[in-house]
Amino acid sequence: MNVCTCPHVLVTGASSGIGRATALRLAARGHHVYAGIRKPADGTALVQAATGQLTPLLLDVTDAGQITAATQTIAGHTGDAGLAGLVNNAGIGIFGPLELIPIEQFRRQLDVNVTGQLAITQAFLPLLRRSHGRIVMIGSIGNRFTPPFIGPLAASKSTLATLSTALRQELAPFDIRVVLVEPGSIRSEAVGKLDADARQVMSQASPDGRALYNDAFLHLVGFFSALHHKGSPPDEAAKTVERALTTPRPRTCYLAGKNARRMALAAALLPPAAQDALRRRLTHQPARASRVTQTVPEPTAAQ
Ligand SMILES: NC(=O)c1ccc[n+]([C@@H]2O[C@H](COP(=O)([O-])OP(=O)(O)OC[C@H]3O[C@@H](n4cnc5c(N)ncnc54)[C@H](OP(=O)(O)O)[C@@H]3O)[C@@H](O)[C@H]2O)c1
Repeated sequence: MNVCTCPHVLVTGASSGIGRATALRLAARGHHVYAGIRKPADGTALVQAATGQLTPLLLDVTDAGQITAATQTIAGHTGDAGLAGLVNNAGIGIFGPLELIPIEQFRRQLDVNVTGQLAITQAFLPLLRRSHGRIVMIGSIGNRFTPPFIGPLAASKSTLATLSTALRQELAPFDIRVVLVEPGSIRSEAVGKLDADARQVMSQASPDGRALYNDAFLHLVGFFSALHHKGSPPDEAAKTVERALTTPRPRTCYLAGKNARRMALAAALLPPAAQDALRRRLTHQPARASRVTQTVPEPTAAQ
């Protein structure tokens, strides 16, 4: 049963930041938005803020049962019209020295940001196929210009970029476009989560691990937080997502928000050693070999 004739779009991770701004923007511009949230209170707040049609759905991208239920709900409402768009936005950002990051946290990073996106895409492709819908993947410019200690997040986003490239070609025969949006610095709720999470990573490390990385890591976190506090508002990224979803001939990739273009240029133009030096200077990292611990050999009897 199709109860409305406007285009239907699913946005995952719509409780805050870019996902919330995208859901509200698309609803205000005549889409019926299904907004994936994990807490019912976030759904209530979204409905109150929305000026158009917005239906919140419990949708944790790592929960197979919730994915199936959301697919059935949306299929029941959209009927033959299917889905005009899927915005794979949900994500977490785990930072930390790769030597210390608990492996379970690294797995979780990939589970949410990569496997979860594919699970959602697989589940909704039959509905997207009905209306030659579009998929927008939210990547990150950090995938191209990667400072130290954002390894877990950047690894997930470069994998997502690779998935987008493969998917774009696989779905082209069905006229389903796949567009990657790579935000730079966006002032979202993620910044607040970063500070708390970073301190937790360090508090879980052994005293030896902390001694190796604490200062350098906290410098990076401080730099990153300051950059994002001065970043673009989430609606800036939402505008780009809207463009990627609705322009007749979308590009394969769009940059969004402050610093995205600058970082893309640095990644494209500077040789890797110059990029490392630039990132080291910007994030106040110790110089090469400055922290080598000398192992002094024991004097032998002959000496
Ligand atoms: N902010 C930036 O500068 C920036 C830059 C590059 C890329 N990005 C990307 O943009 C996307 C949105 O980030 P944001 O900055 O807007 O951060 P945010 O405000 O923290 O939003 C993240 C969203 O993802 C949801 N989420 C987390 N885990 C989930 C799961 N397992 N299943 C479903 N939803 C889940 C969160 O829901 P809960 O509230 O329930 O946790 C929240 O709605 C992410 O993919 C991020 O990597 C952001």
